[in-house]
Amino acid sequence: MRSGLLLSAAAGFGLCLAGSALTLAQAPPTAASLRPVESFGTIANQRDRSVALFAEMGKVIQHPRCMNCHPATERPRQTDARRLHQPLVVRGKDGHGAPAMACTTCHGKQNYDPARIPGDGHWALAPASMAWEGKSLAQICEQLKDQNRNGSRDLAGLVKHVTTDTLVLWGWKPGAGREPAPGTPEQFGALMQAWADTGAACPAS
Ligand code: HEC
Ligand code: HEC
Repeated sequence: MRSGLLLSAAAGFGLCLAGSALTLAQAPPTAASLRPVESFGTIANQRDRSVALFAEMGKVIQHPRCMNCHPATERPRQTDARRLHQPLVVRGKDGHGAPAMACTTCHGKQNYDPARIPGDGHWALAPASMAWEGKSLAQICEQLKDQNRNGSRDLAGLVKHVTTDTLVLWGWKPGAGREPAPGTPEQFGALMQAWADTGAACPAS
């Protein structure tokens, strides 16, 4: 008897929780923001300022929109919850998937919102050397600067990539049902430029 009562009370509580979660989910997504570059001017030490700028960039780099395509394994991840890609697809030789299951089988040139399928003209998984998933911000920072792993880019090349590459820019226009990366692409580009200008220092590992 008693446990039955407890159970139904618990069920009621659960329903309440579910109700409020629903309200939360329906609220318009509030895009997370990025601190403007100028606000870092108060950090007098240049190295500290550079590290702080990179930490701010980390809000974008470690966001699911970027992480899902820079996974530690052969498989991309999906959704804000970063679940493993369904169906099973793999990076393949060049990031475009195995021949029988190429990314373009499903991913078109642009987002297809009715089926929630994101798209872009060169949709592909980042190479394994550019995997970020499971790494600390310090490790990601070092690897990002390493021309043996970053696609032979110097700092200017990195800034150019993040301000012009359509896969990066997709992170802020991800289509229906996905949270955009924080801030704007312009703010992110400005943070990276300021990080480069201050010596591209990395957080201590
Ligand atoms: C059989 C169809 C299919 C194939 C092939 C496919 N995808 Fe997907 N992919 C989807 C669908 C559908 C979604 C949307 C899932 C959702 O968000 O509910 C998706 C979502 C994604 C996302 C998630 C974006 C985000 O941040 O939520 C990534 C990343 C992704 N795919 C990468 C790839 C890559 C890379 C390839 C090729 C190696 C690939 N997909 C091949 C169907 C496919
Ligand atoms: C659809 C998959 C996809 C998404 C989404 C994606 N990337 Fe990438 N990224 C790639 C691929 C593929 C490459 C390799 C391209 C090359 O080297 O020319 C790459 C390379 C990079 C590089 C080059 C250097 C390196 O070491 O990683 C940077 C920087 C980068 N991405 C940043 C981002 C950021 C920031 C986001 C989110 C705003 C993002 N990417 C989202 C697929 C993706």
